[in-house]
Amino acid sequence: MPLTTPRDLFVHELSDAMSAEQQILTMLPELQAEALNHELKEAFEIHEQETHQQLRNLEEVFRQIGESPEATTCYALKGIGDEHKALHQEQPSPEVLEMANLVGAAKTEHYEMAMYTGLVQMAKDLGHEEAAQLLQDNLDQEKAMAVRIEMLARELGKLQVQAMLAGSR
Ligand SMILES: [Fe+2]
Ligand SMILES: [Fe+2]
Repeated sequence: MPLTTPRDLFVHELSDAMSAEQQILTMLPELQAEALNHELKEAFEIHEQETHQQLRNLEEVFRQIGESPEATTCYALKGIGDEHKALHQEQPSPEVLEMANLVGAAKTEHYEMAMYTGLVQMAKDLGHEEAAQLLQDNLDQEKAMAVRIEMLARELGKLQVQAMLAGSR
């Protein structure tokens, strides 16, 4: 179906967001398993629960606007997933893998922030105030997760560099 109106684009972008969240749900258990740090493991576990809620919010947005999701693939998340697979082929140490996963998680959260910022604006422009609030709830969770990830990346990065320096003495 050709996309010709802002509403068509809204439905398309919402469908893309659903695909992104579904892909993230399949990635989070692996990220949990690969996290050495307890706080990071816990952050991924909490975000898995939040992601389930975000998908329910997206389903509710579709219900409110009387549309159903298109079958579509979010290629941005597919790309981030491919990067994760490619890194595995480089035989990373568990510590390096954990740091790489933090970088990947930061990229993912920032992508999601841009995605939901656009969706909130489109919902408001189209007069879907309740839908805009649900999308804003998702955006707030992504922002909080991005902050958590950046904080953990700073802490763990520092510890790993210290360990590396201690080991080379
Ligand atoms: Fe999400
Ligand atoms: Fe997220």
